[in-house]
Amino acid sequence: MSTAKLVYEGREIELPVVVGSEGEIGVDVAKLRKELGLITLDPGYGNTGSTESAITFIDGERGVLRYRGYPIEQVAAHASFNEVSYLLIEGERPTDQQLKDFERELTYHSLLHEDMRKFFEGYPPSAHPMAIMAAMVASLSTFYPDTPEEEHINIVRILSKMKTLAAFAYKKSVGQPFIYPRNDLSATGNFLRMMFAVPSEDYEIPVVLEEALNMLLILHADHEQNCSTSTMRMVGSSEANLFASISAATCALWGPRHGGANQAVIEMLRSITANGGNLDSFLAKVKAREVRLMGFGHRVYKNFDPRARLLKSAADRIFDQLGINDPLLDVAKRLEEAALNDDFFISRKLYPNVDFYSGIIYRAMGIPTEMFTVMFALGRLPGWIAHWREMRNASGGYRIHRPRQIYTGEGERTFGPR
Ligand code: CMC
Repeated sequence: MSTAKLVYEGREIELPVVVGSEGEIGVDVAKLRKELGLITLDPGYGNTGSTESAITFIDGERGVLRYRGYPIEQVAAHASFNEVSYLLIEGERPTDQQLKDFERELTYHSLLHEDMRKFFEGYPPSAHPMAIMAAMVASLSTFYPDTPEEEHINIVRILSKMKTLAAFAYKKSVGQPFIYPRNDLSATGNFLRMMFAVPSEDYEIPVVLEEALNMLLILHADHEQNCSTSTMRMVGSSEANLFASISAATCALWGPRHGGANQAVIEMLRSITANGGNLDSFLAKVKAREVRLMGFGHRVYKNFDPRARLLKSAADRIFDQLGINDPLLDVAKRLEEAALNDDFFISRKLYPNVDFYSGIIYRAMGIPTEMFTVMFALGRLPGWIAHWREMRNASGGYRIHRPRQIYTGEGERTFGPR
C-alpha cells in the first residue's frame, strides 16, 4: 500500500493512500489528529471523501456516469425505473423472476394507511408539496417498526408509497379528491393516473408520458455523495430509522442549489420571457453575481453532465410526440448557447446540469412547477436507500458522522450575575 507523507513543524506522518476501482486516489487522514493534532479543513466538502462506495461512479472531467458499472446512457435506453431501483439497492441486475417478484411487492404496498389521509387535511392548500412529503415520509415511521427483520419490507413500502404520497400532495394542492393506486397498472402508469385522473372521467395513461417519466426517474436515481445523499448517510449514521433518514434527505434536496434548481430554472426562464426575452441583460446580472444561471454548474461535472445531454435530446422528442410548442424551450436553448459561448461560463467550466431541461419536460407532461422537486425526490429515492443500506450493512461497521471544526469565536470570558 502506498502512503503520502505530511510534515508539520518537524514531525511527520505517513498517511495510507486508498485507491478506488477506477483509479481515484484518496489520502486516509483518520489518524492525523491523533498523531499530529491536526484536522483537515474543507468547507463545503469539495475535496473530502466521506466514504468508500460501490454504487455509482462519476468522472466529472469526462462527463461519465455509471450505476453499478453500467453507463447511464445504456441504463436509460434499456431499463425500467423498477429495475434500476433493484440494481442500485441490491448491487446486481435482477433476473426476470427477481424483477417480477420485486414489482409485485411494490404493487401491493402502494396504498397508504387510511389514517394518513387525515394528515393531509391539516395542511393549508398553499403548502409546498416538498414540505408535505418530508412530513409524511417521517410519519411513516409511526406506522411501521424499524427492526432489522423489517428492513426489506420497509424499503419496499417507501419505494411504493412515496409515489402515492406525492400524488396525494398534488391532489391536495389543487383541491381534487385523492385517486387511489390500482394493482393492475405499472408503477409509472399508476403514478400518472393518481396525479391526473378525476373520479368522474376515464383516464387513459399516455404511453409517451410513461416513457418520459421512466427516463426522468432513471436519470435522477443516484449521483453518489451529493447533498441529500450525504444527508441520508449523516442522519442514518446516528441510527435514525429509514423513514426519518429519507425525510431528512428530502429536506436537503428541497433547496434551489440542489433539487430545487429544476423549479428555479422554470422561474428564471419565465422571468427572462417576461422581460422581453433579453438574454444579454440577464447574463450581465449573472456575471455581476446578482443571480445564478440556474441549471448550470456542478460540483463534480467540469464537462457536460451526461444526464443533461440525454434530457436535451429527449425534450425535442417528447415535445414532438406531444405536439407541444413551449416558448420556454426556445429561451432555454438560446440561453444555453449564449452561456456556452461566453467566457464567464467557459473559464469556470459551467455546463448545463440535469435540472436545466428536466423542468421543461415536466412542464410539457403537465406536472406543475411546485411538484418538480418532488419528482426529483421520487427519482433519487432508490439512490438514498442504496447508500443508507451500504453504510448500515458495511462489513467493518460504521461510525456516526461527526465532522470537526476550527473554532474562531471568543476566548474564555466571564459570565457573571446580571
Ligand atoms: N451561475 C453563475 N455562476 C456560477 C454558477 C451558476 N449556476 N455556478 C457556479 N458559478 C460560479 C461561482 O460564482 C463561482 O465563481 P467565482 O469563483 O468567480 O466566485 C464558480 O462558478 C464556482 O462556483 P461554486 O459555487 O464554488 O461551485 P460549487 O461547486 O460550490 O456549486 C452548484 C455547485 C451546483 C451549487 C452551483 O454551480 C450552482 O449554484 N448552480 C446553480 C444551481 C443548480 O443548477 N443546481 C443543480 C445542481 S445539479 C442537480 C443537483 O445535484 O441537485
